[in-house]
Amino acid sequence: MASVEVSNLSRSFGIYKALDDVSIRFEDGGFYALLGPSGSGKTTLLRMIGGFDYPDQGRIAMNGESVERVPLEKRNIGMVFQSYALFPNMTVFDNVAFGLEIRGVSRPDIKKRVGEALELVQLSALGHRKPNQLSGGQRQRVALARAIVIKPRVLLLDEPLGALDKSLRLDMQVELKRIQREIGVTTIFVTHDQEEALTMSDRIGILSGGRVIEEGAPADIYHRPNTLFAATFLGEANIFEGRWSDGAIELRDGVRILTASNAKPEPNGAPAHCLVRPERITIASLKDPMADGMNRVTGRLTRRLFSGHWTTLFVQLGDQEVRVGLPSSATMEIGEGDEVVLAWSPDHTIILAT
Ligand SMILES: Nc1ncnc2c1ncn2[C@@H]1O[C@H](COP(=O)(O)OP(=O)(O)OP(=O)(O)O)[C@@H](O)[C@H]1O
Ligand SMILES: [Mg+2]
Repeated sequence: MASVEVSNLSRSFGIYKALDDVSIRFEDGGFYALLGPSGSGKTTLLRMIGGFDYPDQGRIAMNGESVERVPLEKRNIGMVFQSYALFPNMTVFDNVAFGLEIRGVSRPDIKKRVGEALELVQLSALGHRKPNQLSGGQRQRVALARAIVIKPRVLLLDEPLGALDKSLRLDMQVELKRIQREIGVTTIFVTHDQEEALTMSDRIGILSGGRVIEEGAPADIYHRPNTLFAATFLGEANIFEGRWSDGAIELRDGVRILTASNAKPEPNGAPAHCLVRPERITIASLKDPMADGMNRVTGRLTRRLFSGHWTTLFVQLGDQEVRVGLPSSATMEIGEGDEVVLAWSPDHTIILAT
C-alpha cells in the first residue's frame, strides 16, 4: 500500500490547461473522492497518477519516491476506467487474469488469485461468462476484480458507479467500501454524485478548472467550506452577499446585518460572501423564546417543497430567495404568502473566500 503525494502538477493539451499547479496528498489506506464539474481535470489527474499520461511539470511521489516518469507497468496501480473497458471476447475469468498474464505470473497462481478476486466481488459462479452476458453491476464488479487482482498499491476508480441505476448504485457503494476496507488499499474515487462523495470517503477533493479548490473531511467541507465554489458545489447553499461594516456584514439593501463567528473581520466596505445551510435556519416565530444574538431577517414564504420527512421553504428576501430546510412536522402552520422571521446562529454563518 502507498501514500501518494502530488505536487505542483500541470498538464496542458495545446493551450488548454487541464491541470494547473495541482498539489494534493492521499494518505496510505485512505478513501478519497474527487468531485468537480465535467472537464475540471479529474480523469486527467487519475491518468497521471496511474501512469497513463505524463505531466508537463510537477511531481508525483508514492511512499516518498518520485514516480512521475515511471512507466505504468512499474507503478503497480489498479484502475477502473470511466467506461469499464472489459475485453468483450474474453470470459470474466480471462478479463480478470489479463493483468497477471502480462506480468508473467504462473498459471496455478493466476488461477488462485483470480479465484480470490472473483470471490471478493461475489462473482465466483460467473467466471465462464462473457461481459455481454452480465448485468451492469456485474460488469462493474469484473472491472473492479481486474483492478485489484494485481494487488495494487493504489486503486484509481473513475466514476465506477456512473452507469448504474440508483438502487444498484447504493448496493455497489456498500460493496466497494467493504472491499476497500478488506484489502486496505489507498483509493482515489472520482464521482459526479455529491452524496456518494460525502457518504463514502474519508476526504474529498474539489476540482474546478484544473485546480484543487479545496480538500478536507466530508463534514468539514460541507459545514465549513472556505470557498464560494465548494459551498455552492457541495450541497444546498444560501449565499448572502454584502459588505463588511464594523465587524458585521451589511447586506446589499443596507438594512440587515449578519454576524459570523470564527471570521476575521475585514475593513469596512470590503465585499463579503457568507454561507448559511438551509437546515441551519429556523423560523423564529416557531421557536419561542429565541436566544439572543441570532441573525434574523424577515421575508415572505413563496413556495414549499414537501419531500416526506423534510420540507423546503422558499422565502423571498428582497431580490433573494432563501431556502429553509425543516422537518415537515415543524412547517404545518406556515402558509404561502405568510411573513416569516428567519433566524440562525452566527456560528452557522460561514464567511467564504471568492
Ligand atoms: N487528450 C486530450 N486532448 C485534448 N484535450 C483533452 C485531452 N484529455 C482531456 N482534455 C481536456 O482536458 C480537460 C479535462 O478533462 P478531464 O477528462 O480530466 O475532465 P473530467 O473532470 O474527468 O470530466 P468528466 O467529469 O466529464 O469526466 C477537458 O477540457 C478535456 O476536454
Ligand atoms: Mg472524467
